[in-house]
Amino acid sequence: MEFTPVKVTERVYWVGAVDWNIRDFHGYSTERGSTYNAYLILGDKIALIDTVKAPFCEELLARIAAVINPEKIDYIISNHAEMDHSGALPKVIAAVKPEKVFASVMGVKALNEHFHLDYEIVPLRDGDTLSLGNLSLKFLETRMLHWPDSMVTYLVEERLLFSQDGFGMHLATGERFADELDPVLLRNQAAKYYANIILPYSQLILKLIERIKTLGIAIDIIAPDHGPIWRSDVGKILSWYQEWAEQKPRQKAVVVYDTMWQSTDLMARAIADGLAGEGIEVKVMRLRATDRSDVMTEVLDAGAIIIGSPTLNNGIFPTVADMLVYLKGLKPKNKFGAAFGSYGWSGEAPGIIFNELKGMGMETIGEPLKVKYVPDGDGLKKCCELAKEISRRLKKGGE
Ligand code: FEO
Repeated sequence: MEFTPVKVTERVYWVGAVDWNIRDFHGYSTERGSTYNAYLILGDKIALIDTVKAPFCEELLARIAAVINPEKIDYIISNHAEMDHSGALPKVIAAVKPEKVFASVMGVKALNEHFHLDYEIVPLRDGDTLSLGNLSLKFLETRMLHWPDSMVTYLVEERLLFSQDGFGMHLATGERFADELDPVLLRNQAAKYYANIILPYSQLILKLIERIKTLGIAIDIIAPDHGPIWRSDVGKILSWYQEWAEQKPRQKAVVVYDTMWQSTDLMARAIADGLAGEGIEVKVMRLRATDRSDVMTEVLDAGAIIIGSPTLNNGIFPTVADMLVYLKGLKPKNKFGAAFGSYGWSGEAPGIIFNELKGMGMETIGEPLKVKYVPDGDGLKKCCELAKEISRRLKKGGE
């Protein structure tokens, strides 16, 4: 089997795998596939940073074999235990027979609980260093970015940060470097990744960026575990992360809803029209036509999220329930919420949504707006009035 490695620097090679066909990454729609990045460091001692998802083990070993005999690897460093990066680890250990395998303290536990290895993994603590002879590695714990075990590895002499999930994106491409790709595509995919994976840990991102500055860690290259490697444009991804982590809302509203007989749909369009008329940027997303993860990408920089549902069996529509559960888990900050929907006789849905938004700690606007059956002129006027109220609140900002 032959697969080609990619030289990142004279002493670092990308040896990961490209998953062109994955379309669902534990509930996140990966319409452009993903990559599982692993890196080979050629010091006096040879180190492998992370592995790949289990089905791609042969691809990883073939890329390594194109650089060196895999049995020459001395150390394997597992920055993150989630199985998209550790799934191949047991097979790689068996094939390589490394001198040592390292992970964070929590990583040692997690790897043992995943794989029940008959192999001792050496724990690394925050701030530890490891010599490769002519090169040196420094480790920083990044708990909850993305799991409790997560850490990043800094290759001092190359000023290269192996950042595991952080600064990554789900994007399968033939190119390995961000500067070879369309910047709009990069920003969209990085934003989607941030909104769906990193968002709840935004405070930790701000602390990590601050810590990197305080420690005086100069970074020329960021090599994440998903998507392209950042080299000439490290500042770009760092500034995007700073922006998203701060969660400053824009004058933008996302209208998310589902509909049974197009009445809630009509309300959604009327609210959106009212917002657009007030100069507010608006996105309208019907849930059976839009994946929840794409909704989150739009929610990331929005100031308002307006959720609509018809009343079904005295409750909310199932797709709306799914969206609310997903939204709650991702803990967005600095947004206003509103609720609307058409109903036939009981009409509980808008009130349920309203309370769910409040339960997330979100400031709500107006009252739950409900219209019986098909909205008439009066119903549509109420949609327009709600839009005006939302618009006023958005323009007022976070006061
Ligand atoms: Fe890419 Fe948290 O794993």
